[in-house]
Amino acid sequence: MLAGDFALKILLLSGSMRGERSASLKVARAFVKGIVEEAGATVTEVNLCDKNIEPCHGCFVCWKATPGVCCVKDDMDELRKLVMEHDVIVEAFPLYFFNMPSQMKAFTDRMVSYVQEYRASNGDEEGNRFLHNMRYPELNQKKLVLVSTCGYETTVGNYDSLTIMFDKICGKGKYTTVFAPQGGVLSEKSLEAKVNKYLVKFTDAGREFAKQGRLSEDTREKLQVPMLGHNTFDMIINMNWDKQDVGPYGRPINKE
Ligand SMILES: Cc1cc2nc3c(=O)[nH]c(=O)nc-3n(C[C@H](O)[C@H](O)[C@H](O)COP(=O)(O)O)c2cc1C
Repeated sequence: MLAGDFALKILLLSGSMRGERSASLKVARAFVKGIVEEAGATVTEVNLCDKNIEPCHGCFVCWKATPGVCCVKDDMDELRKLVMEHDVIVEAFPLYFFNMPSQMKAFTDRMVSYVQEYRASNGDEEGNRFLHNMRYPELNQKKLVLVSTCGYETTVGNYDSLTIMFDKICGKGKYTTVFAPQGGVLSEKSLEAKVNKYLVKFTDAGREFAKQGRLSEDTREKLQVPMLGHNTFDMIINMNWDKQDVGPYGRPINKE
């Protein structure tokens, strides 16, 4: 069980520019709901797109001159503090060209101040994985969950680049993935009832995560089963691209 004698704290970071329209946020909220129902957690939700996050300057001031302290003063100070204060970090984002979108990548890069520098002589290597130990030991106790939707009909092969990256950063099996295909149809208003039914399996997965601290391989595979069969999916996306007034896409996103 994830929660013990203390109240579990979840930080849900959304990395989609689509705000409340985000399919990935919808899936992440369903998953987090399961954790809350099972473990009685509190949730802090932050949309990274509302935050000012500069790209990492690559100066390594945070490793050398002021270890742990980044010299770029923007909203990352607040976000790093939030990471330290929470037990489960859920990162929700769309798949962009087989990896994370730039706002989530900027956040990831700027967390570099919270890992230690790599030194070949320290034996900071494990096979072909180069290790960066956490600067603060509390960070090792935190659980990281990546929740993402992609637009293609299936997730198969589309998340390889992302998982290779996180296997290198965190280590294999040290983080949890929740991936779903057909993100466009998950945002489709006319399918709301079907989507809500589909989302129940993510809430159930959240419960499993709260109980076990991880998801079984079987559950992770089931979460990736597409909501729609090939013909229906094909028909809907064709309508989506061809008709201006149909579907969640094709209009500018206004910040809500
Ligand atoms: C710039 C860009 C790149 C994308 N790259 C991919 C991709 O590589 N594979 C894929 O399946 N979908 C891709 N998509 C589609 C999104 O991943 C998909 O629509 C997702 O469900 C949107 O999630 P959101 O509503 O949470 O933003 C891309 C979309 C954009 C705008």
